[in-house]
Amino acid sequence: MKGSHNRVGVMHGVNLDTLGERDPDVYGTFTLHELETQIKRWARERDLEATFFQSNHEGEFCEYLHRAPERIDAAVINAGAWTHYSWAIRDALEVAGLPAVEVHISDVSQREDWRAASVFDGLVLAKVSGEGAEGYRRALDILLGKLEA
Ligand code: DQA
Repeated sequence: MKGSHNRVGVMHGVNLDTLGERDPDVYGTFTLHELETQIKRWARERDLEATFFQSNHEGEFCEYLHRAPERIDAAVINAGAWTHYSWAIRDALEVAGLPAVEVHISDVSQREDWRAASVFDGLVLAKVSGEGAEGYRRALDILLGKLEA
C-alpha cells in the first residue's frame, strides 16, 4: 500500500488542544501530542501515513478540508463541540469527498442530549465514540479496509 493511497489526515477541532488539562474523568490524562504520537505508531503498523491538524477556528478547519484532497486520502475527524452544530464543517467535508471516520474520546451518547447529535450523520463511514484513545485505532482499521478495497 505504501506510496499509493495511504495518507490519513487526523483532524482535531475546538478545545482538543486542551487534552491533558480538561476533565480527566471524561477525556483521560493524555495530551494531544501524546495521542498523536500513539496514532502515528498505530498508523505505521498499518502502513498508513498519518498527518495531524488541530484548530480552534472553524474557518481554518473548513479551509484544511478544502485543501485536503491534494494532501490526504482519508480523514479521521474529532471536531469536538463543532460536531454537534457546525453545518459549515459538514459541508466542507462533503466537498472534500474523502472517506472519513468520526471519533469521540468520550461516549457522546451517554452525556448531555445535545452531544448525541452529529452533523456528520450519513456522511462518514462510521462513528466511534467512548473508546478513549483506542477509538482512533479502530478508525484507522475502518479506513484501512476502505483504502485497500
Ligand atoms: C468530544 C465530545 C464533544 O461533545 C466535546 O465537545 C469535545 C470532545 C470527544 O472527543 O469526546 O470537545 O468530541
